[in-house]
Amino acid sequence: MISRTPAKAILFGEHAVVYGEPAIAMAIDLYSHVEVSKSEEFLVDGSPPEPRYHSYIIKAYEMSGLKEKVNIKIRSHLSASSGLGSSASVTVGTISTLFALKGEWSKTEIAKTSFDVEYAVQGRASPVDTSTVTAGGFVIVSRESYGKPIWEIEKNGIKWYVSSLKNLNQEFIIANSGVRGSTGNLVQKVYNFVSKNSFGMDIIREIGKISMESIKYLEERNLEKIGELMNRNNKLLTILGVGHEKTSKIIDSVKDFSYGAKITGAGGGGSVIILPKNEEKVKEILERSKIKYYLVRPDLNGVVLIN
Ligand code: PMV
Repeated sequence: MISRTPAKAILFGEHAVVYGEPAIAMAIDLYSHVEVSKSEEFLVDGSPPEPRYHSYIIKAYEMSGLKEKVNIKIRSHLSASSGLGSSASVTVGTISTLFALKGEWSKTEIAKTSFDVEYAVQGRASPVDTSTVTAGGFVIVSRESYGKPIWEIEKNGIKWYVSSLKNLNQEFIIANSGVRGSTGNLVQKVYNFVSKNSFGMDIIREIGKISMESIKYLEERNLEKIGELMNRNNKLLTILGVGHEKTSKIIDSVKDFSYGAKITGAGGGGSVIILPKNEEKVKEILERSKIKYYLVRPDLNGVVLIN
């Protein structure tokens, strides 16, 4: 049994989503593969799992409710802490294959259980990553239902609605700063900022407004406006303290050849998402500065069983 799961990029609303504001994310065509086969004992890549390295897989196995022992093989080219949702991709892939083995494959259940796994391992999380890579395409995650939600997720009395948005058939460039930010620490950093500054919550609400405003432009494929909102969202993320010298440098360097660019994910390094105007020029600039990048398109399928 093999699952293929995309990675994700947050277009708008990271961090603000932790405070109940909407976030918009898309699944991207970078994939992890998870293969599960029956085994005499519980193994990861043929060896007993290491709690330090395999926390998500161990938790996913526990929470899947599968009784049989299995060997779980992971193939992922996504680097951890890059802001592309590598842990969510592997978690969703693992849950998907284990549920398929149980004969209970449903995207709603995969999204819910995978969120439980991330929550249990990280202690704090929103369902953005796990829901996006399960559903595929563009999604909005918010506390108020938008359109007709594909599923709802509840945790500790908080309810999130996950809805699909129209696909924007568009290439993006994701540049990796090479600096690893810790999502947990950055979420804490924003919390400290918001608690200490009277205008902290205004910034959070402002980001939420940008997410809502972007829906119209995404639907109209108005690249100028989408780029403008990405730039504005990035300024607000910088005020919240999740910017980094390296990501700011990348964003500045591609400014003249892109509609917009911003940090994607938790920040503190990590990745930058660029909406290119002149793709060749952006690539040339990144290559000259030896910045690793991916050309990505939206993945429309989300998690799939390929065998
Ligand atoms: O680091 P990532 O890509 O998993 O993004 C985290 C997004 C946050 O909004 C900062 C946290 C969350 O759980 O939503």
